[in-house]
Amino acid sequence: MTTLQDCRSLDAQDPLRGLRDQFNLPEGVIYLDGNSLGVLPRAAAARVAHAVTQEWGEGLIRSWNSAGWFELPQRLGDKIARLIGARAGEVVATDSTSINLYKVLSAALNIAAQDTPRRKLIVSERSNFPTDLYIAEALCRERGCQLRLVEPEDIEAALTPDVAVLMLTHVNYRTGAMHDMAALTAQAHAAGILTVWDLAHSAGAVPVDLNGAGADFSIGCGYKYLNGGPGAPAFAWVHPRHADRFWQPLAGWWGHAAPFEFTPDYRPAPGIGRYLCGTQPVLAQTALDCGLDTLLAAEPLGGMAALRAKSLALTDLFIALVEQRCAGHGLGLATPRAHERRGSQVCLTREPGAGVAGVGSGAYAIVQALIARGVIGDYRAGDSQRHKDILRFGFTPLYIGFEDVWHAVEHLRQVLESGEWRRPEFNQKHAVT
Ligand SMILES: Cc1ncc(COP(=O)(O)O)c(C=O)c1O
Repeated sequence: MTTLQDCRSLDAQDPLRGLRDQFNLPEGVIYLDGNSLGVLPRAAAARVAHAVTQEWGEGLIRSWNSAGWFELPQRLGDKIARLIGARAGEVVATDSTSINLYKVLSAALNIAAQDTPRRKLIVSERSNFPTDLYIAEALCRERGCQLRLVEPEDIEAALTPDVAVLMLTHVNYRTGAMHDMAALTAQAHAAGILTVWDLAHSAGAVPVDLNGAGADFSIGCGYKYLNGGPGAPAFAWVHPRHADRFWQPLAGWWGHAAPFEFTPDYRPAPGIGRYLCGTQPVLAQTALDCGLDTLLAAEPLGGMAALRAKSLALTDLFIALVEQRCAGHGLGLATPRAHERRGSQVCLTREPGAGVAGVGSGAYAIVQALIARGVIGDYRAGDSQRHKDILRFGFTPLYIGFEDVWHAVEHLRQVLESGEWRRPEFNQKHAVT
């Protein structure tokens, strides 16, 4: 049995424990939702205030040059590149994940249409994040293609000669299950198929090696493990072998080779620069810059490999404590136990019909009761077929410690044993779950 004292000893021995001081964590909160919205970096308020009062307030339009605003998408992209196995100059931080997916998926379809014109299918996972599926569906409508959705175990068999693109999220948002990017990319390429990887739950959470895997296109979020703040700019990466081949469809002036020549015709910037569209959100990029610095601060301590080792230790501990202390309450584990298949989150399931008056699973109410106690996770609704309701807990090793895990599970045990989650206020659904 693991004790609170054991957890305190693990924290005392943790070489990454000092990284937590980079964040403003509210008193009394155990924050297990960094997979949805990362914590505010301490540096962000002053940096954004400086960008507002000095760069904008005093520098005005001059700041596009003097404060380096114009280069922000590439400068932040270079920082993100260090976390995802890309090289400097291969990534831009811009727009949202959904918009970047539209751009790179269009480019992938353009390449396929030229190189392998008979291929008309996009393959993805049925439980991929909905925005990915919606964007793909919209593109399929535009281009007369089709989206084929499969279960994870059927992906390999779905790589047939009519498939143009395999579009996957590396770490699944509902289960935390992680794909083997290198193996699936190799299988796709052997079948003549391009790959698009969504790194929303991977960038800053697990080591990623896009170039090592030989992937084709990738996008990801800035507001989760990159700690860039609500609605932070996302990122896009395109393998250099593809970057110059096609325009992306949102060919705005920021993706032009020389935007300030103001020519009436479009001439795309070389490389990833053409994946920009319009004027950039400088204040949001300034906040994202602070978020990225919190991750790069781990580089002298072993970087993503060290963060990954701690993340696995945290998620192993959470699983073990839930199984030791919360047995008999209808909880199951949706996240793979195998380290090589697990992201940085743990998702617990609850049986349908285990909720108040037999309606629903009670998973939502349990999460609300935990939030009321200061343990912040989130809830993802199941569907009637394959997926049960999920209580989702993200473990960001930059600011979560082993003692936090112990207390979180103790609160979960008390919520379940006392039945306080049955209270009406915890069973009222909010707009954001
Ligand atoms: C896998 C994945 N892709 C994309 C998104 C969101 O995209 P956007 O930032 O455009 O809302 C999420 C949000 O949670 C996600 O989990």
